[in-house]
Amino acid sequence: MTQLQSFLLTCTVAHVMLLFALATPDAAYPPPYGLDQSWTTTTTASASSADDLIPVRREVYGGGRIIDISHRYHSEMPSWESDDGLGHFLWLAKTMKNGSLSNNSEMKLPAHTGTHVDAPGHVYDHYFDAGFDVDTLDLDVLNAIPILSSSSSCAYPSGYGDGLGDCVGVGDSCLSPMSRQVHENGEIFDITHKFTPHTPVGDSTEGIGQFLTLLTSMKNGSDYNFSEMKLPVHSGTHVDAPGHMYDNYYDEGYDVDSLDLRVLNGPALLVDVPRDKNITAEVMKSLHIPKGVRRVLFRTLNTDRGLMYKKAFDTSYVGFMKDGAQWLVNNTDIKLVGIDYLSVAAFNDLIPSHLVFLEGKEIILVEGLKLDDVQPGIYSVHCLPLRLVGAEGSPIRCILMK
Ligand SMILES: *[C@@H]1O[C@H](CO)[C@@H](O)[C@H](O)[C@H]1NC(C)=O
Ligand SMILES: *[C@@H]1O[C@H](CO)[C@@H](O)[C@H](O)[C@H]1NC(C)=O
Ligand SMILES: *[C@@H]1O[C@H](CO)[C@@H](O)[C@H](O)[C@H]1NC(C)=O
Ligand SMILES: *[C@@H]1O[C@H](CO)[C@@H](O)[C@H](O)[C@H]1NC(C)=O
Ligand SMILES: *[C@@H]1O[C@H](CO)[C@@H](O)[C@H](O)[C@H]1NC(C)=O
Ligand SMILES: *[C@@H]1O[C@H](CO)[C@@H](O)[C@H](O)[C@H]1NC(C)=O
Ligand SMILES: [Zn+2]
Ligand SMILES: [Zn+2]
Repeated sequence: MTQLQSFLLTCTVAHVMLLFALATPDAAYPPPYGLDQSWTTTTTASASSADDLIPVRREVYGGGRIIDISHRYHSEMPSWESDDGLGHFLWLAKTMKNGSLSNNSEMKLPAHTGTHVDAPGHVYDHYFDAGFDVDTLDLDVLNAIPILSSSSSCAYPSGYGDGLGDCVGVGDSCLSPMSRQVHENGEIFDITHKFTPHTPVGDSTEGIGQFLTLLTSMKNGSDYNFSEMKLPVHSGTHVDAPGHMYDNYYDEGYDVDSLDLRVLNGPALLVDVPRDKNITAEVMKSLHIPKGVRRVLFRTLNTDRGLMYKKAFDTSYVGFMKDGAQWLVNNTDIKLVGIDYLSVAAFNDLIPSHLVFLEGKEIILVEGLKLDDVQPGIYSVHCLPLRLVGAEGSPIRCILMK
């Protein structure tokens, strides 16, 4: 019996049914993003059919169940102390036009542009120096359900400085930020890797390098510290849009801003795959993933090997072989494919597997997930890419909730 089967047996049938019922609003499949009106039930939207090629940019999904309250990034958007807006923030570092197998963008953004968050280190020297950066922010505060958090009995959110629930007021002495994977006693698991200079990226042995730069600092006369970040969009935990490997989709604007938030958010299954193979059709068959499951995070040997913690890109990672990808498309209802290294496709089938997954514009690929120390089973997954207009990939923040 596989781990998945034994897990399913331990759940009450009713619970599982409820979760999957919630997963499937009106149709067997989510409408392919780009075709909001037609609730198609086929998995084989043609890559070449002309009327498919109109991405839809939305704020509201699922009849108002999901409302996007983030602004899109575009060159004209306001940027702090700039008269000309954000300007050119995205460029193609590699393109198929000059010999690369895929298009790969890089982005450069002031960290306080568009919809963004401030960490305490923005204006408090001692917090900055102690490391109170955005990675230490409390996900329970940012994602609390219900809105009035049960854990917090004080005016300030239970301190992400001490993890013990004591209040952290301005100027108190809690100077040990905690970067956590598990929030609120295991109700929220952060499955996103941190960005550091050693975060791996395809084709590099050195990782992403210095990705964050202080543009202004109090040390040279500014009232605040203000960083800028520069990243390849396919580094760390990230999402692929169809334009990554399809010329026509790229040109028509199937970028990360057009991805369907209903696919990226909802019930998901975390499964372990056999450690001795890449993900072939045979492996997919052996996992016995039930019909109706629409989001699956595949944990592989990559997690055991800690590949995401090694700065040098390693081509021996585990991923989907073309026939495994084709089997998934042909035989399952899966629309969100998550994996624990930089590519869902095994290096030997890098392009063919991506082409199979992305052809229908229905399947969203989330790569570089941090699946360490989370039990296999059913969770609610929440993945949100940046709204980078024109980008074929984006850093993405993913969490699992119990
Ligand atoms: C590749 O092509 C892009 C435009 O498509 C160009 O901006 C870039 O400089 C080229 N890079 C190289 C290395 O030729
Ligand atoms: C600003 O950055 C410097 C590093 O250049 C740091 O030492 C200082 O604490 C920071 N100040 C604030 C207000 O965050
Ligand atoms: C500001 O200070 C930083 C170090 O805190 C330094 O690297 C940078 O060059 C300085 N910039 C200017 C414009 O002086
Ligand atoms: C790659 O980028 C070029 C623009 O330089 C674009 O015309 C082309 O369609 C893109 N190809 C893919 C596969 O996305
Ligand atoms: C998976 O495929 C890669 C090549 O893409 C290979 O190097 C690796 O050994 C394979 N892993 C397993 C477990 O078979
Ligand atoms: C998927 O279906 C196509 C026909 O729709 C078939 O040609 C192909 O062999 C199938 N592949 C797998 C791996 O199931
Ligand atoms: Zn990618
Ligand atoms: Zn990819």
